[in-house]
Amino acid sequence: MTKRVAIFISGAGSNMRALVEDMTGDHPARPALVLSNNAEAAGISWARQRGLHTEIVDHRAHGADRAGFDAEIAARLAPYAVDIICLAGFMRVLPDDFVTHWHGRMINIHPSLLPKYRGLHTHARALAAGDREAGCTVHEVTAELDGGPILGQARVAVHPDDTPETLAARVLAREHVLYPTVLRRFAAGDRRKVAL
Ligand code: GRF
Repeated sequence: MTKRVAIFISGAGSNMRALVEDMTGDHPARPALVLSNNAEAAGISWARQRGLHTEIVDHRAHGADRAGFDAEIAARLAPYAVDIICLAGFMRVLPDDFVTHWHGRMINIHPSLLPKYRGLHTHARALAAGDREAGCTVHEVTAELDGGPILGQARVAVHPDDTPETLAARVLAREHVLYPTVLRRFAAGDRRKVAL
């Protein structure tokens, strides 16, 4: 049966676009929903123009009430009968009980070769360390930040004159290939690691 996918974004949504554009033909999944914590996310306008269902859950409306934000995400998600969640530049940490509920059904893309450089500023950290290669990772989401089982990685060379921005652009282009490749397999129940 075709799997229903929710994609969570906070910004440009270029990975979301790559996933949506791949979910056609014999792909085992289809986009059911694009959810953002940020109404201004460029990816949300693209998704709307494309006729996709969108939901905005603004974390600022809940202030310090994390539980309220979390409950609203779960409530907004429920009607879409989603099978898989793809985090794609979603800049909020999801609570442990949500992560536990979606265990084995939620994946994320991270712009480093995990386990190196969990968290933010991955490209600057790779350059500061003098790394000669960089890349991106798609992994299952667990309670440990950027720490779940790895489903795929794509590598790029670091150039001597790279800045965090030029390296980020080179990695992002690979993210757009890696994430759809992994989702296609993951939705078909194949968790073998992809290496690009
Ligand atoms: C990507 O670099 C992704 O790896 C990271 O956030 C960025 C999102 O970019 N988690 P976009 O919104 O998909 O363009």
